[in-house]
Amino acid sequence: MLSQETMNVIKSTAPVLEVHGVTITKTFYKNLFAAHPELLNIFNHTNQEKGRQQTALANTVYAAAVHIENLEAILPVVHQIGQKHRSLGILPEHYPIVGQFLLAAIKEVLGDAATEEILSAWGEAYGVIADAFIQTEEVLYKEAESKEGGYRGFKPFKVTKKVVENDMMTSFYLVPADGSTVPSYLPGQYISVQVNIPGHPYTHNRQYSLSQAYNGEAYRITVKAEKDCKPAGIVSNYLHANLNVEDELMVSVPAGDFVYNTASGTPVTFLAAGVGATPLVPMFQTAAKENEAKVKFIHSASHIPLHPFERELLGIAFPSKNATYVPVTTASTGHIDQAFLEKQVDLSGEVYVCGPVAFMESMIKQLTNLGVSRDRIHFEFFGPAMAI
Ligand SMILES: Cc1cc2nc3c(=O)[nH]c(=O)nc-3n(C[C@H](O)[C@H](O)[C@H](O)COP(=O)(O)OP(=O)(O)OC[C@H]3O[C@@H](n4cnc5c(N)ncnc54)[C@H](O)[C@@H]3O)c2cc1C
Ligand code: HEM
Repeated sequence: MLSQETMNVIKSTAPVLEVHGVTITKTFYKNLFAAHPELLNIFNHTNQEKGRQQTALANTVYAAAVHIENLEAILPVVHQIGQKHRSLGILPEHYPIVGQFLLAAIKEVLGDAATEEILSAWGEAYGVIADAFIQTEEVLYKEAESKEGGYRGFKPFKVTKKVVENDMMTSFYLVPADGSTVPSYLPGQYISVQVNIPGHPYTHNRQYSLSQAYNGEAYRITVKAEKDCKPAGIVSNYLHANLNVEDELMVSVPAGDFVYNTASGTPVTFLAAGVGATPLVPMFQTAAKENEAKVKFIHSASHIPLHPFERELLGIAFPSKNATYVPVTTASTGHIDQAFLEKQVDLSGEVYVCGPVAFMESMIKQLTNLGVSRDRIHFEFFGPAMAI
């Protein structure tokens, strides 16, 4: 445990972290990758270039500093980050490297203000925080490994089916190449995939939500080709163009804390925009079967052909007494607003939201205005969560 003196130093430096956190983490990553370029095989280069990962790390270190006397308060965050770490194969031996470069970055950015006392307090605190991560992740590794068909790290899966869902989205069905059981997962979880692209010096890792409930037969991921942006998305376009039936893809055991967890009898609404529907489809499938209260899937897309899974969602809703599917086409009706939410969402229940950041911010704000408490609104960002 940390001494009271150490905790006092950490708490007194928290405001400095709030101001200089992102500069420190940017310096940290620059120096870390210069000394350990092999780590570029696990980090998402786009998140680095956009500064999202630096912000996520700075926010987490800041949160740890603020809660240093009661680290239990940040355990849910440790668990969520630990899921991402586990899915990417982060190991205990990586932690001292990160610790060394984090302390060096604090010293480089703060200069003389980073006294020996401050650096030694942070060194000690990092050790305690790193231990919490290592322990959490070991539990997650054991869980992943002990499932039927489970394993550590990545292994090859074979594509058995490739289905074009619309102009932008394509689904890939994946089974373990060695013929073993498909490890189970909870509705809402994602897999990490590793892709080696000819001509690219480092491996690319990305996460894709499993877009159908577990069926014991195959994983399905649905990938939106990020093509109308500059630069075009590296992995999504590569998968669309190059990953075909019989090809292999490296996959880790499903992970993630954004899972359907609503007691039967509580109404539930899924609010999706665009490809954000992916983690919500298996949740809807599950809720329609297990929940006796009202279950609704609202899917917003700009144009009619952009509603993927439409038939599937109708197929879930049609035979069910309590499940409904509401497509929203914003080109004709405009964005979802508060009046729409008031009419369509059962505000006494729980809401799961997934889509672009602006969509989620708007939904969360309006639902909160309508009296839905934060603990009843669940959401996932398709990037480093602590960055938002
Ligand atoms: C938990 C989770 C679940 C996810 N589930 C899904 C899913 O089900 N389906 C899905 O399609 N995606 C999903 N994603 C997103 C997915 O992991 C990828 O991020 C996505 O496919 C884009 O990857 P890419 O390599 O094609 O694009 P990247 O090359 O990573 O680019 C992404 C975007 O960043 C922009 N960009 C790149 N470089 C820069 C720069 N230097 N400055 C500014 N902008 C830049 C690009 O123009 C593009 O718009 C999920 C992500 C997470 C974290
Ligand atoms: C106590 C130390 C650490 C903290 C506080 C920390 C924090 C974080 C945070 C906040 C995220 C974003 C999670 C998300 O996607 O929602 C993250 C992701 C990640 N972390 Fe860590 N981390 C630590 C240690 C490490 C170590 C030792 C490694 C291995 C070198 C590592 C590698 C990664 C990678 C590869 C990602 C995904 C990055 C991306 O997708 O861009 N982390 N970490």
